[in-house]
Amino acid sequence: MKKPLKFMLVSCFLALLFILAACGNSNATKEADAKTDNTSAESDIPEKKFKLAHITPTDHMWHKAAEKFNEELKARSNGKMELEIYPTSQLGTEADMVQQVEAGSLDFAFITAAYLSARTPEMAAWFAPYTFKNLQEASDASSTDIAREILGKIEGTGLKGLDYLFAGQRAMVFKSKEVKKASDLAGLKMRVTPSPPLQLFYKEAGAAPEGLPLPEVYSALQTGVIDGMDMDLDATITNKYSEVAKYVAVTNHMVWPSIIVTNEKMFNGLSEDVQKIINDSLQAAIAYAVETRSGQEEEFKKELASQGMTVYELGADVFKEQIQAFDDEYSAKSDLIKKFIEEFRK
Ligand code: BEZ
Repeated sequence: MKKPLKFMLVSCFLALLFILAACGNSNATKEADAKTDNTSAESDIPEKKFKLAHITPTDHMWHKAAEKFNEELKARSNGKMELEIYPTSQLGTEADMVQQVEAGSLDFAFITAAYLSARTPEMAAWFAPYTFKNLQEASDASSTDIAREILGKIEGTGLKGLDYLFAGQRAMVFKSKEVKKASDLAGLKMRVTPSPPLQLFYKEAGAAPEGLPLPEVYSALQTGVIDGMDMDLDATITNKYSEVAKYVAVTNHMVWPSIIVTNEKMFNGLSEDVQKIINDSLQAAIAYAVETRSGQEEEFKKELASQGMTVYELGADVFKEQIQAFDDEYSAKSDLIKKFIEEFRK
């Protein structure tokens, strides 16, 4: 064989060997990468203690939901992530907590949709009177497109709404007057969470709504600064309002969602695995709260009666004018709220 030909054949053979080796190598690299990916879900989870705050006492359902969220977070992250929970307005009012979440010094907070309705007007949809018959109906509605669109409206100031967490439906508590019809509310100073749709409802009945945050309500009632309040049965029990009020009208006129808010930048900066663990843990806590609270209505009425309160029912027929006033005003303000009422009030 001539020398150049022999040289060419050897070169081709070596080139072929090189290509085969390279292919083998790249397969090996891919396999190694895949292995790393499989273990990364576990190893990428950072050790992290998140801070969560809310305004209710530790025996209210929202605190129990926070504890359930913590339990699930620990279990789903193999103990790497957990919550430090600050209940009972320990970190301040809802306004304070919103600021802390926006600034990034607080990771999660349960903020009432009522409070948020002052800055995100579409949240008012949840306060369309007598839209849901019970908690389960409201909870089912919270996963619909309309509810998700409303949730999305709070973004833009550093806040992100992760989901809704419900307390029991609203009742009316009175210091010394048994209110049996809407006109009996005339002239009464009624405490509401500072929130335009709640204020509208009471103003329409001739009452004077007073926007007061939860921690100030007990002493305001005790000292006669207010005559009554818009409240849920759980909070009436856990805040011991039976010590300073005589009557509870079980009206169920509105539902009571909070929004689980987080800092948008912090949350979006977490890996998808970590976001999923947080979201799954929250879903378990939300389901636990709705299921548990739905079965407690009768028990709570009996408990308040046993504490000496007069407990009675008032239905939608008593508040027809207030319902109409809400629908007229808010349907004109927002197509989303109009759609919400049409979709859910049956
Ligand atoms: C309220 O402000 O009326 C309230 C807030 C959170 C849970 C229950 C009641």
